[in-house]
This record gives sequence, structure tokens and C-alpha cells, in this order.
Amino acid sequence: MSPLRFEPDWSRLLEDFDSLHRKVDPLRFLRFDFMLDLLEASLPPTFTALDLGTGPGPLGKRIVERFPRARVVLVDHDPSLLKVAEEALRPFGRRVRTVKLDYSKKGWERSLPLRRFHAVVTSLALHDLPRSQTSTLYRTIYSLLRLGGVFLNSDGILWDRGKHGVGGLFDRVRTIQIERGYRVPREAFLRELEGWWRPLRRYAPLKEALERRDRVAKTWRPPKGVFDLPSHLSSLRRSGFREVGVVWQQLGSSSVVLAVK
Ligand SMILES: C[S@@+](CC[C@H](N)C(=O)[O-])C[C@H]1O[C@@H](n2cnc3c(N)ncnc32)[C@H](O)[C@@H]1O
Repeated sequence: MSPLRFEPDWSRLLEDFDSLHRKVDPLRFLRFDFMLDLLEASLPPTFTALDLGTGPGPLGKRIVERFPRARVVLVDHDPSLLKVAEEALRPFGRRVRTVKLDYSKKGWERSLPLRRFHAVVTSLALHDLPRSQTSTLYRTIYSLLRLGGVFLNSDGILWDRGKHGVGGLFDRVRTIQIERGYRVPREAFLRELEGWWRPLRRYAPLKEALERRDRVAKTWRPPKGVFDLPSHLSSLRRSGFREVGVVWQQLGSSSVVLAVK
């Protein structure tokens, strides 16, 4: 398909991204709301938040919608997803800043427009980092937070290697949810997600970025040696966080971890 100079409907793209994800993860937005409840309970009404691996900005958008005095910095290394976030959140004006950066690279924090944050949040983004990089990232996040600031990581984190048999139970629960019709199989989700990219592929300014993305996707392999949940918690404690805990746990993988500086 040859890219045309046409403007996708950016807000619609973010809405479609949300509804697609709800199908495979029915509690996703309840979980996001819960994360926002935690922010409301622990931060002043005027706060700054950093969203790591924001994608098209679903979590960042919810923060600025719910907290009219909050400002967010959204970061991602993928220019096409970040473009959707930037355009879809344009109505929020200067309260939203987007920065293209790779948080696995040393010194990434120097590209941020702010030096300190009340909150660092992230959803479905850090699972691809190998152990050593996760520990380094946690130390950087700690350094970016104000005293009393919070880090919230919502991700597919491996529950616990020690609990034999429970993993199989979770797999059966997932199958039951698919049979009962409130969750779609992962393959169906991935097929629909492919279709989600179509309007972006027709947008000429993103042509090169998407070609690069496709090349990387072809050779991408999941990293070896990612953390399980207990290791995440101890790595956060070693990074200096004074309180660390699992505040949401859903089946064997969807967790929200809270760490307070
Ligand atoms: C599965 S998407 C999640 C998007 C969004 N946070 C959500 O919950 O829907 C993961 C995002 O993390 C970004 N990402 C992964 N590794 C990254 C890195 N090292 N630096 C910056 N962004 C990264 C990807 O480009 C992608 O947009």
C-alpha cells in the first residue's frame, strides 16, 4: 500500500487501541482507575507524572483527564506510537509533553524536560527489559522521584517460579473466560491489532519509522533472564524505595507494583 498524505483520526486511534485491549484484558481499565486512585490518595492535587513506554498514551490520557492540575511527560522509543499520543492528547495543551527516548540506554533521563516527578507510572512496558537493565532503571526512577513520590508498574510480571501447578490453573481460568465470552483469545487480539496499524501505514510522515519497526520486529526475540515478581520487589527495595508492595494481582501475570520513595 503506498502511503498517502492524509491525516489519521488520532483520537479515534487511541479509542480503538483502548477497546481492542479491553477485549483481551477485561479488567484493564478498572486497573488503570485503581492506579489513579492510588495517585489521588498519595499525591497533592498539582503533580507531575512520567509515563514510561506510553505507547499511544492510554494511561497518560486518563491522568490528565482525571486530575485537571496534573502535568504528564510521556516517553516511548517508538515514534509512530508516540505520534498518536502527541496528537490524541493535543487538547490538553502544555500539560502533556512527549519525548522520544529509549529508557534502556544509559543517561536517558537527561532528555526529560523535568528533573523531578511526583509519580512515575508504566503499563505493559518494562517486561522486555533483562534483569540488569531493570535494576538500573529502578535506580534511575528512584532518583527522578521526589521524596514521598510513587512508582506504579502495571505489567505482565511472572508471579512466582516456586508455585508449581498454579500457572496451569491460571491458564485454565483464561480458557474459561474465553469460553464464557468475556475475553478474546490472544491470537484474535493480535490479528485485530495488526489492523489497528493500517491508518498509520497510510500516513506518509511515518513511513520510514514503520519500516524500521517492521525490520526490528522480524528479528526480535524475548530477552532471557527477566525478573519474577519477588525479584522485582527486592530490586526495588535495593534501589532505595522505603515501601514496596503488590497492590493488584490478577491471574498469574497482571500485577501492579507500588513503590514509595
Ligand atoms: C505494549 S505497549 C504498552 C503501551 C501502553 N503503556 C499501554 O499500557 O497500553 C509497550 C510500549 O513500551 C514501549 N517501549 C518498550 N521498550 C521501550 C524502551 N526501552 N524505551 C522506550 N519505550 C519502550 C513500546 O514502544 C510500546 O509503545
